Amino acid sequence: MKIDKHQTQRSFARAAEQYDAAAVLQREVGNRLLERLDYIRVNPATILDVGAGTGYCTALLQKKYPKAHILALDIAQAMLLHARSKTSWWSRLRNKTDYVCADAETLPLADHCVDMVFSNLTLQWVNDLDTTLREFARVLRPGGMILFSTFGPDTLMELREAWQAVDAFTHVNAFIDLHDIGDTMMRVRLAEPVMDAERFTLTYPDVYSLMRELKAIGAHNVTHERARGLTGKTRIRRVEQEYERFRHADVLPASYEVVYGHAWAPVQQQPGVVNITLEQIHKPVA
Ligand SMILES: C[S@@+](CC[C@H](N)C(=O)[O-])C[C@H]1O[C@@H](n2cnc3c(N)ncnc32)[C@H](O)[C@@H]1O
Repeated sequence: MKIDKHQTQRSFARAAEQYDAAAVLQREVGNRLLERLDYIRVNPATILDVGAGTGYCTALLQKKYPKAHILALDIAQAMLLHARSKTSWWSRLRNKTDYVCADAETLPLADHCVDMVFSNLTLQWVNDLDTTLREFARVLRPGGMILFSTFGPDTLMELREAWQAVDAFTHVNAFIDLHDIGDTMMRVRLAEPVMDAERFTLTYPDVYSLMRELKAIGAHNVTHERARGLTGKTRIRRVEQEYERFRHADVLPASYEVVYGHAWAPVQQQPGVVNITLEQIHKPVA
């Protein structure tokens, strides 16, 4: 499945105003991701917040590291404008946060210019995780860290199944497995990767409430394989019927598998020391 970047940009731009009111899970995961920093002794001078959205985590990062210069980066300019409008005149005066409208897969930053790459619930929107993590590794200073959360494959499985019974289009984005993310980190030479996952179940009175919430946070289906044009009422009613199979204790569940990860940019290699990944050892010599 390929993400249509123009659509991503448009749907998040349209969601900018109502995002904060609907993004309960995103805030909860953001808080949990930030809590992890309490156990890691770092003092970053420059932090890149990738997919900063309306700036919830950006503001908390600034509070945690008041001396740090933060780059809040997002593909949707409207999200960044909203984030900026929420910052106090004092922090604007001190100019500690800058806003960058760009794609996480092609960062407009020099090599080795940040100490931490932070990203809450954004990596599920990129097309090529290898490219993206390689970009993160490229902009990190030696010894810098990346810390992120993203969604795993069980996310929205009920909605995916309900749609699969109705038509052959993709209606829910594909999410990458924790192990594959771990492998990718190794491949791009990020050191000491640590991954874990956590499950959340949100409940809704009906499938329309879930769909409304996804729309409010900009989480549309933006794959190239999506159905074009309006979805007919008959098909929506069929999705509703299919989803009812999951009803339990008078509510409809929506599963979210949240994957957390962190890793380090390798410190400068010592002369005579060569890092070789397991994959390279197993590859037959040409
Ligand atoms: C679910 S929101 C998370 C926002 C924020 N991190 C939070 O915790 O509230 C995902 C954000 O990633 C941005 N985004 C999606 N694809 C992106 C890409 N390829 N590059 C940069 N930002 C992207 C969206 O515009 C959106 O603001």
